[in-house]
Amino acid sequence: MFKEITIIGGAGHVGLAYTLICASKNIKVHINDTNIKSINLIKKGILPHKEKNGSKILKKALKNRLISFSHSIEEIKLNKINIVCLGTPIDEFLNPQHKKLIELFNKLKKILKNNQHIILRSTVSPGTTRFLHTMLNNDKKNIKVTFYPERFIQGYAIEEFNDFPQIIGAVDKKAEIETKKFLKQLKSEIICLNPEEAELTKLFLNSYRYVQFSIANQFFKIAKNAKLDYQKINYAMSHNYKRGNIPSPGFTAGPCLFKDTMQLYSFSKNDFSLGIEAMTTNEGIADFIVDKIKEENKLSKKVVGILGMAFKPESDDTRNSLSYKLKKILQLNARKVLTTDPYVKNDEDIKSLEYVQKNSDILIIATPHKIYKKIKIKKLIYNIWNDF
Ligand SMILES: NC(=O)c1ccc[n+]([C@@H]2O[C@H](COP(=O)([O-])OP(=O)(O)OC[C@H]3O[C@@H](n4cnc5c(N)ncnc54)[C@H](O)[C@@H]3O)[C@@H](O)[C@H]2O)c1
Repeated sequence: MFKEITIIGGAGHVGLAYTLICASKNIKVHINDTNIKSINLIKKGILPHKEKNGSKILKKALKNRLISFSHSIEEIKLNKINIVCLGTPIDEFLNPQHKKLIELFNKLKKILKNNQHIILRSTVSPGTTRFLHTMLNNDKKNIKVTFYPERFIQGYAIEEFNDFPQIIGAVDKKAEIETKKFLKQLKSEIICLNPEEAELTKLFLNSYRYVQFSIANQFFKIAKNAKLDYQKINYAMSHNYKRGNIPSPGFTAGPCLFKDTMQLYSFSKNDFSLGIEAMTTNEGIADFIVDKIKEENKLSKKVVGILGMAFKPESDDTRNSLSYKLKKILQLNARKVLTTDPYVKNDEDIKSLEYVQKNSDILIIATPHKIYKKIKIKKLIYNIWNDF
């Protein structure tokens, strides 16, 4: 039985969700995170970002003293199981950035004891887990390392936890046995792969979704250029016909899909043209919409309101949101740009929905938050999403 684990990056999206999953099973969690602001919110029982059902579990866990905190490596309390959930961005060459992970592992190397275990939940390029294992053990230590990709939908990790198996890629048998023992405590089905297979599984899944969304966006563009109604075509393709179930076109964004498609592109030594095509289509959608509006409007005389600044519906996360790209393009083309979002808290430009509705000539639904379904708009509205 593992009574306590450590989560490094435990105040982030993946780390905090996992903290709450463990705490809900009565496993103590030591959160180590450099983000003091988030830690202070969590200590008060406030989630720094949306996580369905998270608030109740957090309050109960704090009351039962299941969570402890540190915000520097000097104060960290390491346990037998230590889970790493740092962000893994790409660099200006669209290649994975390893700097932060390597810096962390260089520090961990000095304080980890024999038989402690690092479980990597950050999405990494194939080969990284084994590289980090070698790095930790090159002075003859015996540190276990396992890659354990995160597959939940952001904001719904707790709800989805029992819905599908956990994939693990341990560097050796001892690490695999220990990870399985830990995950059995959380009652999950487990699939064992080697680290590179597990790393690739995660990149394939995200790239697959990214390419799927790009097909929908490409179809939308073809229909629009032919002056046809894509929503009607989509209904015809998908209604009572399971093989026509194409995702909605839209602003395909966020901290994972683009980045992981580029990680795969880099891993395949740039031999993944489908990924590049998907990126071109998905990233180009904001420009496409502005061009379409310009065909019918004197945009330089219009105030444009953007509805939704988060990267996806019902989320408060603005990381890599294409709403901001749309805003930037519009600022160069329209008289004025107004923005609104019911959930986003970290953007001072955001106005209320009423204000944006009242003061805009044109509205664009950039993020299909459910509340936008209810508004009855008389003025011109641009909508790319299905079912809206
Ligand atoms: N967000 C998702 O839905 C999702 C889904 C699947 C996989 N992932 C992957 O999980 C990883 C984490 O993503 P995220 O969205 O949780 O990122 P995040 O930015 O929300 O969380 C990362 C956390 O790590 C902390 N941190 C950074 N450097 C640190 C350090 N040196 N020591 C301690 N803490 C440190 C940050 O303060 C932050 O709280 C990424 O690799 C991402 O690709 C994310």
